[in-house]
Amino acid sequence: MSSSSMERFAPIVLVAGLLFFLFGTFWQAVAPWLSLRHLPYKSIDEIAQTVPPTFRMMADDYPDEFKKYFGEPDTAAFARALRIGRGVYVAEACWHCHTQQVRPVSNEELRFGPVSYPSEYANALQLPPLLGTRRVGPDLIREAGVHSSDWHMAHFKNPPAVTPGSVMPSYGWFFDKDGSPGERALAVTAYIQWLGSWIPNHAYELPTRPAAQPEKQ
Ligand code: HEC
Repeated sequence: MSSSSMERFAPIVLVAGLLFFLFGTFWQAVAPWLSLRHLPYKSIDEIAQTVPPTFRMMADDYPDEFKKYFGEPDTAAFARALRIGRGVYVAEACWHCHTQQVRPVSNEELRFGPVSYPSEYANALQLPPLLGTRRVGPDLIREAGVHSSDWHMAHFKNPPAVTPGSVMPSYGWFFDKDGSPGERALAVTAYIQWLGSWIPNHAYELPTRPAAQPEKQ
């Protein structure tokens, strides 16, 4: 083909390229927005209307610390704890080692609980979505009630103390100078104990969830 006949096609290629671009923008951005914009989307304050029992239990377990940082275990305190807890989860890159999605493959529901469904992610705590991309540690979207809040405190302070051989880093700065739980320890535990709390009793229906194994000597 001579160069002059190629030049004849240049405008067609340009127009086709622009059309593909417009089609792509419509199909992948405008169309999903049009079809999803009426889905109910929960704000943190709406989520916090249901205070899970674990939050009240934390107020009983750590009365002084809880009072100092959160006051009474009411809906306003729970909203604050969720906000801070999720912020800590993002800032400390917990999502680098933990996912928040039970996929419908590899019998994941036997390890973690019911397979995740879309409306679980239609809330302000999933902005940006914290699905995660790899699992150095277990999935956390069904973590509510799997362990006691005491367990989480000990775990954040020194993971191998409760899970021998754990490679999870310790988070000493979540605690106050005297070693008692600080604002971050309480908030991130409240957040973790909320994940999956909308699925009744799931934590107690996981017979095959592998127990922590002591490291082989
Ligand atoms: C370097 C990777 C890594 C990072 C970062 C990390 N974890 Fe972990 N996490 C693990 C591993 C591995 C385990 C499993 C062993 C254990 O229990 O410690 C685990 C276990 C857990 C468990 C217990 C899960 C269960 O069901 O037994 C929770 C809860 C948890 N992590 C929360 C967090 C939070 C919150 C953060 C951020 C503050 C975090 N992790 C950061 C690797 C990590």
